[in-house]
This record gives sequence, structure tokens and C-alpha cells, in this order.
Amino acid sequence: MQVYLNDRVVPSAEAKISVFDHGFLYGDGIYETMRAYDGVVFMIDEHMRRLRRSAALIGLDIGKSTEELKLAIYETMQSNNLRAAYIRMTISRGVGAIGLDPALCKSPTFIVMAHEFKDYPKASYEEGLSLIISSVRRNLKEALNPQIKSLNFLNNILAKIEAIKADVDEALMLNAVGFLAEGTISNVFFMKDGILCTPSVECGILDGITRTIVLELASRNGITAEEGEFMPEDLYAASEVFITNSTMEVMPVRRVDDKHFEAGEVSKLLLSKYREEVSAYLREKQGESPSLWE
Ligand code: PDD
Repeated sequence: MQVYLNDRVVPSAEAKISVFDHGFLYGDGIYETMRAYDGVVFMIDEHMRRLRRSAALIGLDIGKSTEELKLAIYETMQSNNLRAAYIRMTISRGVGAIGLDPALCKSPTFIVMAHEFKDYPKASYEEGLSLIISSVRRNLKEALNPQIKSLNFLNNILAKIEAIKADVDEALMLNAVGFLAEGTISNVFFMKDGILCTPSVECGILDGITRTIVLELASRNGITAEEGEFMPEDLYAASEVFITNSTMEVMPVRRVDDKHFEAGEVSKLLLSKYREEVSAYLREKQGESPSLWE
């Protein structure tokens, strides 16, 4: 495997960072996860915009243009001979003496990793995933805003540990006042009284790129959607539930705690519309991919 480190692609055995890296010492950094289909990184501009927003929110100068960031992604894919890929771009504050002051780090550490994308089992899309509502609350947005896609992931990891102990696929977190927020790596949607409900950004969530597309697809397909404050009871009373992220797309949920659900019509419709959206994007962008592919 080849990894992009700072300014070039190196074999993974050489892709090493310093023990003084503030990403390692303090979780001081940001990241994005993307998915490439047939050689094209889906929604790359949106991911780059969100990365820049995360950087701005932590006062980090990435030190690369958006074009350079995109080229680094495509170069990493090409070095690994990938067309269907899972891609992670990580940028930490960089190497500096021990201490919290970001000014101790002269330049950020930049990493792109990519590996072959392994599809989720078909059965997961047909039957759905199992979830719990975790006892771990989502970070208060006034303390560590989930809109910063940061390397500081312990909040999510603590909830994930509960999910693993409960032998389920994903854990949903409530916010500090008890409203539904989001999963450890996903946003949540459910159908209640014919309305597609999802926690609003004000609840303290990451505004997922997939979430935004799903809301747009709902509106285009005559499905009324509501972004708001919801209680666990609203979710338990749903007729169907699904979660979203860039790798899973639209993933039905078969169980939340001891409530069972079917992979319903709306989940199926939105998954198929999402995939149509991906195909349309590929048709539009395939001609534009960097000449690296030629
Ligand atoms: N996770 N909420 C959280 C906490 C997430 O970590 C993610 C994405 C999402 C969905 O965002 P998007 O639709 O833009 O992928 C919501 C990625 C997949 C990850 O952590 O690897």
C-alpha cells in the first residue's frame, strides 16, 4: 500500500510520523472520509469545503490549495491502482514541542490513505443494521462542535465500545439535553406519521454530506422532511429507520434497542435515488478526472 505523506506518495512502511505530532499527542487535527466509485471521488468539492471549514474552526492553515488536495487524493488512488476506494485524508497540527499552543507546530502533517472499497454485504441493505441508543452523550456543541470533523474521536469511540459490547452495528448518541443527535459515524433518519425526520444541525451533529443529499432527494421525490429536535420515543415509534454516511450511503436499520423495523419503502427509494445520483455524478465528472488517469 502507498500512502501520501506531506508532499509525496511513499510505501506504507515508510509512512511514519513523529511521536511529537500534535495529532497523536492531543488529537489536534481534522480529517475527511470519502468514497470513490469507478475512479471518481464522489462529492470531492463538498468534502474539500468541509475540510476547510474544520480547519478554519480550529485555526489551522492547511498550507495546500484545494487543487493540490484533490491531486494528492487522485495520486494516492493511482499509486494503489484503485478505482473503487475508501479514502481518508488526515491533517494534524504537525510536529512541535509538548504543549497545547498550536504555534509550537511549524507545519501541518498531511496524510492520504486509500484502500479498495469493500461493499457492505447485500444482506445489510436488505435486512438492515442493528443499533442501540448509547448512554454516552454527544459532545456539547458549545464544548467541541461536532461540525469540526476532528481527530478527537473519543466521544464516538466510547459510544462504539458500548455498541460492541451490545453486539450491534452502530450506536446513536443523544445530545446533552436528551434529544437524538447522531451515530458514531453516521446521521440518522426515521419515518414518523409519513414525515421523514432527522435531527437538526442545531442538535449538535456533523452535517453529513450524505444527509444533505438525502434531504434534497426527499424534497425532489415528494417526501416531506423535518429537521428538528426528536426524543428516543419518536424514533421507537417510527415505521422505518435508516442511517447515512459517505461509505454506507443509505443503510436501513432493523433494530434500535428492542424495537424492530422493516427495511421500508422510503429507505429503499432513497437508496436507489442516491445510487442514481452517484451514477449521474460519475457521468458528469468522468471526463474531468485529473489527467493522471490517462
Ligand atoms: N463518518 N456523523 C459523524 C459523527 C460521522 O463521523 C460521519 C461520517 C457522518 C456522516 O457524514 P458524511 O455523510 O459526510 O459521510 C455523520 C465518516 C464516514 C468516518 O468517520 O469515517
